[in-house]
Amino acid sequence: MKNYLKHDEWCIIEEGFIPANNRISESIFSIGNGRFGQRANFEENYTGDTLPGSYVAGVYYPDKTKVGWWKNGYPEYFAKVLNATNWIGIDIEIDDVSLDLAKCKVKDFRRILNMKEGYLERSFTATTEKGKKVKVAATRLCSIVDDEIGAIRYAITPINFTGTINITPYLNGDVKNEDANWEETFWDKVEVAVKNTRAFVVSQTKKTNFKVATGMKFVISKNGKEEKFKSTKIKTGMYVGASVDVPVKKKETITVYKYAAILSSLNHPTSDILERCKAKVKQAQHLGFDKLLKDQKKAWAKKWKDSDIIIEGDVAAQQGIRFNIFHLNQTFTGVDERLNIGPKGFTGEKYGGSTYWDTEAYCLPFYLSTTEERVAKNLLIYRYKQLDKAIENAEKLGFKNGAALYPMVTMNGEECHNEWEITFEEIHRNGAIAYAIYDYIRYTADQDYLSDYGAEVLLAIARFWAQRVHFSEPKQQYVMHGVTGPNEYENNVNNNWYTNYIAAWCLKYAAEALLYVKNKAPYKYEALKEKTNFEEEKELKQWQEIQNNIYLPQDEKTGVFLQQEGFLDKALIPVEQLAAADRPLNQKWSWDRILRSCYIKQADVLQGLYFFEDKFDLATIKKNFDFYEPLTVHESSLSPCVHVVLAARIGNKDKAYEMYLRTARLDLDDYNNDTEDGLHITSMAGTWMAVVKGIGGMRVHRNQLYFEPFLPNTWQSISFKIQFRGNTILVKVTAKETRLENLSSGKVSVNLYGKTHALGAKGVVVV
Ligand code: BGC
Repeated sequence: MKNYLKHDEWCIIEEGFIPANNRISESIFSIGNGRFGQRANFEENYTGDTLPGSYVAGVYYPDKTKVGWWKNGYPEYFAKVLNATNWIGIDIEIDDVSLDLAKCKVKDFRRILNMKEGYLERSFTATTEKGKKVKVAATRLCSIVDDEIGAIRYAITPINFTGTINITPYLNGDVKNEDANWEETFWDKVEVAVKNTRAFVVSQTKKTNFKVATGMKFVISKNGKEEKFKSTKIKTGMYVGASVDVPVKKKETITVYKYAAILSSLNHPTSDILERCKAKVKQAQHLGFDKLLKDQKKAWAKKWKDSDIIIEGDVAAQQGIRFNIFHLNQTFTGVDERLNIGPKGFTGEKYGGSTYWDTEAYCLPFYLSTTEERVAKNLLIYRYKQLDKAIENAEKLGFKNGAALYPMVTMNGEECHNEWEITFEEIHRNGAIAYAIYDYIRYTADQDYLSDYGAEVLLAIARFWAQRVHFSEPKQQYVMHGVTGPNEYENNVNNNWYTNYIAAWCLKYAAEALLYVKNKAPYKYEALKEKTNFEEEKELKQWQEIQNNIYLPQDEKTGVFLQQEGFLDKALIPVEQLAAADRPLNQKWSWDRILRSCYIKQADVLQGLYFFEDKFDLATIKKNFDFYEPLTVHESSLSPCVHVVLAARIGNKDKAYEMYLRTARLDLDDYNNDTEDGLHITSMAGTWMAVVKGIGGMRVHRNQLYFEPFLPNTWQSISFKIQFRGNTILVKVTAKETRLENLSSGKVSVNLYGKTHALGAKGVVVV
């Protein structure tokens, strides 16, 4: 846990340069626009500890799997998000000495992430080994208006000398991934060019053949006026730059404007990509830095208008939630259904940048409530488009007849995770994908989604479950053996309650969905039947039989649902009795000891109660919460949020707030000592959910929004907006009252603390 960042409502502020924190800050101050992202690496040369990271969405490399012992069915590769051409580099030399903060005396260092307006600033004064002192102020943005443009303004002022400063803006395609399994490089050179102050690198990923064209143009101005200088080209391998000597007087400011364009073959024909990149660089230069920045501010103002959460009375909490919303908005914008949300987004290499069940289980609600419907819909279509691969994936494991097993980790639909207990056993992910369809339709009322896409996915998932269970003679029930539930601190268990429950639910929902399509769009139903060889009567009957007879382990005495058979045989010693030196378990204990213990990594039974809250009474939720929460170590960042929502539901506000604090500033305070690897982007959506569904008590029932908010003691107020079926509701809670306002022009009905109110245009209800 660290606490070196200043608390501020709209900005993340680092003051003073502590090299040991640099990697953490590089993650925290990352910027992106859904199409590409950039860690907060320095523009100028830095020989200290750093993790360079420029990532292009959807561009990955299938890094050959490395495991101790190969098992049949293992994926051949692990897909990696790639560190791509460095577009931010601007090297500075004074008297042949490189400006390098690892070697200079650094003063007044400030790094600021302006979340309100969407840009990164850094300033410092540095004295080189030869005693030359300069002041630097750099501003950088990844445009969310044109998501192929990045821009930098880099101003440098000599403080104690008159002389020459050598400036070399460059692009460098010779980059590596730190997490490469075999220490290979992932890029081949296609073409590089440099002419005067323009340069281009076209590189291509090995094996996957994605082409990325990166271009730059720089302009130098002195005291606010553009000036031309003779430049010297540098071209080695995939490094291209242009070096200029700029004579400068003491206290005179030189400003370098660097315009970059990053285009990938995902969106452009490879034959044309360089030409298009050149045109994009020109366009950026033509707009100019000030206009790009102005447009950026405007676009972010619109994002905040829809998605901000305002917390008064607690600056740390305010900063925490805005930080999460900021990163979610710059990781996924929903413009492209081929893109998704990696657990680290564009802020690091770990987790490969791939898609996990996190998207469906944790991220979807944020995008449903804060932006247009198509954004969440595109997340579902992503999986629809990967259905064939999910069917192939199941076939590889021996399933038949169009059964689909969605991957645990993927870039293109193929499974690329290679720990058997996760790849083959953590199959509950299929359930989350079905649940997301249900959640989306429940929220949006877009039932047509079922006829167009959803039913086909649900059918294939249902077929998987129908084959994955088997009938137990002694129990006379359907059982499921050899699974890993969401709690990865148990592997290869029999009858994980959550997995069995969601499997049965999927069978039910798939049947309902198919019958819905049959009634509503019979011609689509017939086409689907033909495409999938769906044997309506036989398959529905089998699904029904399984649903009716699924084994759901439960303790007869207390009624608690058992995480898996035999769970009660463990030594059930609450987490609070563990010595501090034993935590976190995953760093202190052997895996064997963890597996035999009762400790739960993240919500498991409780994940099910969170998803299917409607189906259980309060006493059941409370009983299970009170049993499992004390055994939970929350060593996944995805854990506390579910606990906030359930704790609030059962009226345990203190526990809800305690859990909320664990998620709210996870990365800002480096709670788990792992922020340097990248940010926990998907758990940021969990934090949003903790606020809106936990503290705000928001639910959707019977086609309307329900709210049951409470205000933590340390807050003066909380307010947020929710988009729901074309309407916008403003929720504001103070110590005195809760107020809902319909900001739309249509009528909307909302339920507050159990009572339904019909709100006309601009209508308000206060309780
Ligand atoms: C969690 C998984 C999650 C993954 C990626 C793991 O630690 O246990 O549930 O999908 O991280 O966020």
